[in-house]
Amino acid sequence: MPLLELDKIVMEFEIGSFGRKKKVRAVDNVSLSIDKGLIYGLVGESGSGKSTLGRVTLRLYKPVAGKVLFNGQDITRLPEGKIRPLRRRMQLIPQDPYGAVNPVQTIGEALSEPLIVHYGLEASEAMGQVKTMLENVGLTPAEDFINRKPFNLSGGQLQRAVIARAMLLKLEYIVADEPTSNLDASIRASIVKLLLDFKRKYDQSLQFITHDIVLLSLIADKIGVMHLAQLVEEGPSDEVIKNPLHPYTRALLSAIPLVSQELGFEKILLKGEIGDPANPPTGCRLHPRCPYASEKCAKEEPPFVEVGIGRKVKCWLYTKG
Ligand SMILES: Nc1ncnc2c1ncn2[C@@H]1O[C@H](COP(=O)(O)OP(=O)(O)OP(=O)(O)O)[C@@H](O)[C@H]1O
Ligand SMILES: [Mg+2]
Repeated sequence: MPLLELDKIVMEFEIGSFGRKKKVRAVDNVSLSIDKGLIYGLVGESGSGKSTLGRVTLRLYKPVAGKVLFNGQDITRLPEGKIRPLRRRMQLIPQDPYGAVNPVQTIGEALSEPLIVHYGLEASEAMGQVKTMLENVGLTPAEDFINRKPFNLSGGQLQRAVIARAMLLKLEYIVADEPTSNLDASIRASIVKLLLDFKRKYDQSLQFITHDIVLLSLIADKIGVMHLAQLVEEGPSDEVIKNPLHPYTRALLSAIPLVSQELGFEKILLKGEIGDPANPPTGCRLHPRCPYASEKCAKEEPPFVEVGIGRKVKCWLYTKG
């Protein structure tokens, strides 16, 4: 049984002001599953719905349709009181670290509080663990950081503190939303390694959200590619990288300088900008940008079909009918 399952998730937001309200469907009919101890990498352009899907997964958002199952339990409509105990087991490392911390708490308080509340540690013991973890993520000496407020840390430093907080909790399931996007290249690799070490040690599952498909090729077990609120390709990460099927996945890989020299397929450059999720194109949502688009692509939405073991693609090139 998978640790986490999403079944036909739909998530919408209302945007615009009075009299001109409209709905954005940020996630449209997405299903996926993540087994215990594995990493599911979610990739796609800005605005494709990755963060929204991550928040639905943790029930930080309640989807308008579909189901979220954690350990087989349907948590889609659980009231907040019943969700709270699950927060000890699954949490978000958010894209924006400033939104993740209480601005009036010190770093030491913010990181030790969950250990005191959830695990019943003495304050001094909790602070000891916090200091060790801060040193692990390179915030050294830890004494210099524990008494500071979040706004007295740089974005990269705070992101590392937030990662340290997640690791202190020994979670079962983590949604890591661009966890290293604010970090210098020099520290990025060591933070990813630390996350992977923890994952192995505590048999955690990770939903790893990023724009960096090359990073996913190195760390993820499965990759899901999102485009305009939908999954368009999914499969074991080495297969998706070595033999990407969807023109969108191919385009993402074509855009990476080092990778694009060694593609086993023709380089694809998409025309124009990513579409508007509030007003997505008809048929296949990529058709206005896709060099292979036919008339059918403009009219009919392709189904997301299995094209091999564990491999799925949403494209008329691979679907009869
Ligand atoms: N709270 C919200 N209210 C209204 N619209 C939202 C909200 N959150 C996200 N959206 C919209 O939903 C769509 C998907 O956003 P989301 O943040 O999930 O994308 P993303 O793939 O994480 O992008 P990025 O790579 O830039 O982080 C976008 O059109 C966005 O504007
Ligand atoms: Mg995001």
